Amino acid sequence: MTILDGKATAAQIRSELAQAVQQRKLDGKKIPHLAAILVGNDGGSVSYVTSKVSACDQIGFESTLIRYDASVQEDILLDKVRQLNEDKSIDGFIVQLPLPAHIDELKVTQAIDPKKDVDGFHPRNLGNMILNLPGFLPATPAGIMALIERNNIETEGKNCVIIGRSNIVGTPLSIMLGRNANPGNCTVTLAHSRTSNLKDICLNADILIAAIGQPNFVTADMVKPGAVIIDVGTTRVEDPSRERGWRLVGDVKFDEVAPKCSFISPVPGGVGPMTIASLMMNTLKAMELKGK
Ligand code: GUN
Repeated sequence: MTILDGKATAAQIRSELAQAVQQRKLDGKKIPHLAAILVGNDGGSVSYVTSKVSACDQIGFESTLIRYDASVQEDILLDKVRQLNEDKSIDGFIVQLPLPAHIDELKVTQAIDPKKDVDGFHPRNLGNMILNLPGFLPATPAGIMALIERNNIETEGKNCVIIGRSNIVGTPLSIMLGRNANPGNCTVTLAHSRTSNLKDICLNADILIAAIGQPNFVTADMVKPGAVIIDVGTTRVEDPSRERGWRLVGDVKFDEVAPKCSFISPVPGGVGPMTIASLMMNTLKAMELKGK
């Protein structure tokens, strides 16, 4: 069994990006600038955005963090999005999700200029992704594809089961893994909360991807021996033994599944760092697309 070390793979990507920044500096070109909007104080969102800003620092990108109280009105947020769309110094930006219930996430996502939508959540980028046209790929699925590619995992002809059909992970990933490409060419099953016989379906998976946000959902009896397991779950559970009082738990019961599989991504240190690395790659791409 091999651990899919997302932390190490992401560090490699960051170092490649840092070199690209150095080269841009030598060439007298603009340094990529990522902005992030964070609404409220949700612990998971705060730590994700903090990691995104810190990845910018490590690579040498500029970054700007814009924070609002959870009570912010939708109009204020939409105005800020429009302002960032116009701001020539900003190459790409994200609005961290989820947003408070009184704000329409789709409206906010659609207000982002697709050329600056480095999260790849705008309908135009998602549409381009489906048609295999140039655009920004959503960060978590793109990070998983990079993790698969950089660890030389064969995908062609494999049965891939994805559990979870969210707009930002399961649904786009099902398109990417099913397309005629390498990685790709999988036969993809997109399973979800209404799927019957989930255990039997999972037992047929050469590649099993868990993205449902239910801690320890995938157990050893659901896993085919030798399967590749990718765990997208990141649920915070209380842990009084830790100073901070919680730990991150994935969707896969790691201890019992790991001995059965060929590759497995851990939580933390698997998909999470790859999501951030993909966002950084998209930010450089946003800059390059402007021809600067
Ligand atoms: N919430 C969970 N994942 C993501 C992500 O990749 N981008 C944003 N903006 N919000 C998220």
